[in-house]
Amino acid sequence: MAKQLVWFVTGTSSGFGAEFVEQILARGDKVIATARNVDKIEHLKAQGADVLQLDITASQEVMDDKAAEALRLHGRIDVLIHSAGYIQFGSWEDVE
Ligand SMILES: NC(=O)c1ccc[n+]([C@@H]2O[C@H](COP(=O)([O-])OP(=O)(O)OC[C@H]3O[C@@H](n4cnc5c(N)ncnc54)[C@H](OP(=O)(O)O)[C@@H]3O)[C@@H](O)[C@H]2O)c1
Repeated sequence: MAKQLVWFVTGTSSGFGAEFVEQILARGDKVIATARNVDKIEHLKAQGADVLQLDITASQEVMDDKAAEALRLHGRIDVLIHSAGYIQFGSWEDVE
C-alpha cells in the first residue's frame, strides 16, 4: 500500500486549489486546505480536509505561526502546492 501523504494547499476556495484538494482526498491522502476566508471551504472540511486560515500576504511572523500550526496537525508536510494568487490582465500602463 502506498504511503499516505500529507499535502498543504493554498488558495483552495476556488480554481486549481479547490480541485487539488478534491483529488487529494480521493487518493486517500491527508490535506491541509487553506484559504483567507475559511467559510468558503467548509465543504472541504466536511469531506475530511483539515482547514487553516491563511492569507499569503500576511507577515513572516504570521506565516511562521501558520507553518507551526500546520505541522502540529500531522507532524509533517510532504507536499506543498501554492495555488493562491491572481492573474491581472491589461496593458502595462493600466495595471498596478
Ligand atoms: N487558470 C489559469 O489558466 C492559470 C494560468 C497560469 C497561472 N495561474 C495561477 O494559478 C493560480 C490559481 O489559479 P486559478 O485559475 O485556480 O485561480 P482562482 O480560481 O482565481 O483561484 C485563486 C485562489 O487564490 C486565492 N487567493 C487570492 N489571493 C489570496 C491571498 N492573498 N491569500 C490567500 N489566498 C488568496 C483565492 O481566494 P479568495 O476566494 O479568497 O479570493 C482563490 O482561492 C493563481 O496563482 C494563478 O495566477 C492560473
